[in-house]
Amino acid sequence: MATDNILVIGACGQIGVELTMALRKLFGNEQVIASDLRDEHPLLIGTGPYVSCDVMNKELLRTIIKQYNITQVYLLAAILSATGEKNPSMAWHINMQSLLNILDLAKEEKLKKVYWPSSIAVFGPNSPKQNTPQHTIIEPTTVYGISKYAGEQWCAYYHKHYGIDVRSLRYPGLISYKSAPGGGTTDYAIEIYHKALSDGHYECFLNADTYLPMMYMPDAIRATIELMEAPADAIKNRTAYNLSAMSFSPKEITASIQSQLPDFTISYKPDFRQQIADSWPQSIDDKEAQQQWQWKPEFDLDTMTIDMLKNLKQ
Ligand code: NAD
Ligand code: SER
Repeated sequence: MATDNILVIGACGQIGVELTMALRKLFGNEQVIASDLRDEHPLLIGTGPYVSCDVMNKELLRTIIKQYNITQVYLLAAILSATGEKNPSMAWHINMQSLLNILDLAKEEKLKKVYWPSSIAVFGPNSPKQNTPQHTIIEPTTVYGISKYAGEQWCAYYHKHYGIDVRSLRYPGLISYKSAPGGGTTDYAIEIYHKALSDGHYECFLNADTYLPMMYMPDAIRATIELMEAPADAIKNRTAYNLSAMSFSPKEITASIQSQLPDFTISYKPDFRQQIADSWPQSIDDKEAQQQWQWKPEFDLDTMTIDMLKNLKQ
């Protein structure tokens, strides 16, 4: 492991901060180069190298890869579902070109491994809603989902034609407290904890019975690293693996919070994100991940609620 140098692109985002810290623990601080368009995230300052870079600038990326002898890239920069619907052409351009830049650089600079996340957003209204299988009707209806589905096919193409060891997960909605979320439809499940503590009340932008697949960040970070550290021949899927931990509605997360904070109240005012949520699965079947690289989540709704509230109070 000590011989790998890792570039994390989008390192200051919701996943990037925690993934960078986890990779630094595993590979060493100097081996993991954090990079983003934004200023360095306060939690990353002093923990290892940081370079400011636009993922759309392929030649600057090449310079960084050569300068730091990068062997693995984790590409996290993207425009998420809700922001994407406000500016579809920008979302398509950034989400596609960033991936093609990295896949081409993986080929040209002979990178050992690439990680790029997909999403449950690849599924659409015609996909089965419950226990959505790995292989089924896809047909996404958001630009974000279309870009993730196209990206999955590009990953499989570069693996097949150029032998690039690129790996991917279809993350569910991710819940965390260390770094703020970046414009997704599942962000309500983070805001609700903050508002429960600050105001005792939350106005939710999805309606009470909207079930979505969700996961607590420690599980997502562990899944990512376990996938990337699995032997290449265990990875039979070169598009992206379904990944699952829990599924709940705003009403159920409210009840979970009320078990800790009995006075907490919620009201509902659905906006444009309701339509996005309604197009997605309610729960996911991830048996390929379980069977091929032994994926198993640790957190359920109530253990996550206890941990979120404890950490946010601090
Ligand atoms: P985020 O928006 O919190 O972070 C993305 C980071 O990328 C930001 O720090 C942003 O500044 C950076 N970025 C944006 N454009 C850039 C550019 N042109 N050059 C360099 N950096 C740029 O997103 P996230 O939640 O951390 O998601 C990371 C990845 O995981 C994305 O591909 C997202 O689609 C995927 N994903 C996230 C979730 C979730 O619930 N958070 C679920 C499914 C998939
Ligand atoms: N959490 C993400 C979003 O809502 C799903 O990919 O956009």
